[in-house]
Amino acid sequence: MLNLDLSGKRALVCGGSKGIGRACAVELADLGAEVTVLARDAAALEAVRGSLSARFGQRHAIAVADASDANSVGAAIRGVLERGPVHILLNNTGGPPGGAILDAAPAAFAEAFRNHVLFGQTMVQAFTPGMKDAGYGRIVNIVSTSVRQPIPGLGVSNTIRGAVASWAKTLSMELARFGITVNSILPGFTDTERLASLTAARARGANKTEAEVADEMRATIPMGRFGEPSEIAAAAAFLASPAASYITGVSLIVDGGRTGTI
Ligand SMILES: NC(=O)c1ccc[n+]([C@@H]2O[C@H](COP(=O)([O-])OP(=O)(O)OC[C@H]3O[C@@H](n4cnc5c(N)ncnc54)[C@H](OP(=O)(O)O)[C@@H]3O)[C@@H](O)[C@H]2O)c1
Repeated sequence: MLNLDLSGKRALVCGGSKGIGRACAVELADLGAEVTVLARDAAALEAVRGSLSARFGQRHAIAVADASDANSVGAAIRGVLERGPVHILLNNTGGPPGGAILDAAPAAFAEAFRNHVLFGQTMVQAFTPGMKDAGYGRIVNIVSTSVRQPIPGLGVSNTIRGAVASWAKTLSMELARFGITVNSILPGFTDTERLASLTAARARGANKTEAEVADEMRATIPMGRFGEPSEIAAAAAFLASPAASYITGVSLIVDGGRTGTI
């Protein structure tokens, strides 16, 4: 039988206060995991924590940190580890601002590298020892379909997603023998605050209404609609579960069929 039981597992969900991260926290808690949600806004994190299912007696927690600030990340890691080992790490944070690649300041690439690659690396180094001891580890990275097909107007983001995908694949090969899997989800257009702000920016740039731009974007998706955060979370939760024990090093597209690669 498909084993999606996460009771007795501890999960750390980064970027867990909103959007895709929050949906992942909800799904992992529903499957029985004890969840810590991490982001910058403590009040938003508390609201998410309070909304999570605790039907297995889980005691969910929050961790306040800014991915770009090594001190706050270090303090959050210490707080999480004081409560015990983490078995499921969801690497996720806000995406880089949009814009043409030629216009991007070199510093914007460094900032994105810090928030996406260095933050992920710090998390992995902190939590893999506990995963090795437990003989169970699931690292799931929220990336983007731009790993396969760069998205116009997201120059910095496209660049950094390729780096994350390469980092994750390399890591998967090193960690496989410990029972730790490393996989990435490549979401398509997903109905979150991030998508709303990108749509608004595109509308301003093209002198169109946001509704017009959203319609144009939906027209590129065979399913004809944006994804729900819960649909991304369902894939992430599967990869975090015992059922996905032989899947590692994969980048899984969840985009309603939009990406034109095989
Ligand atoms: N939505 C889409 O269509 C889509 C498609 C492909 C890829 N993605 C990518 O998927 C990821 C999540 O997207 P989303 O749509 O869920 O975004 P979102 O709705 O903007 O949520 C981002 C989450 O990350 C947290 N966060 C942002 N900056 C942070 C920082 N410096 N340190 C710690 N936490 C931070 C936010 O909370 P705080 O603000 O409280 O810190 C929030 O919880 C992003 O990388 C995005 O680019 C999204």
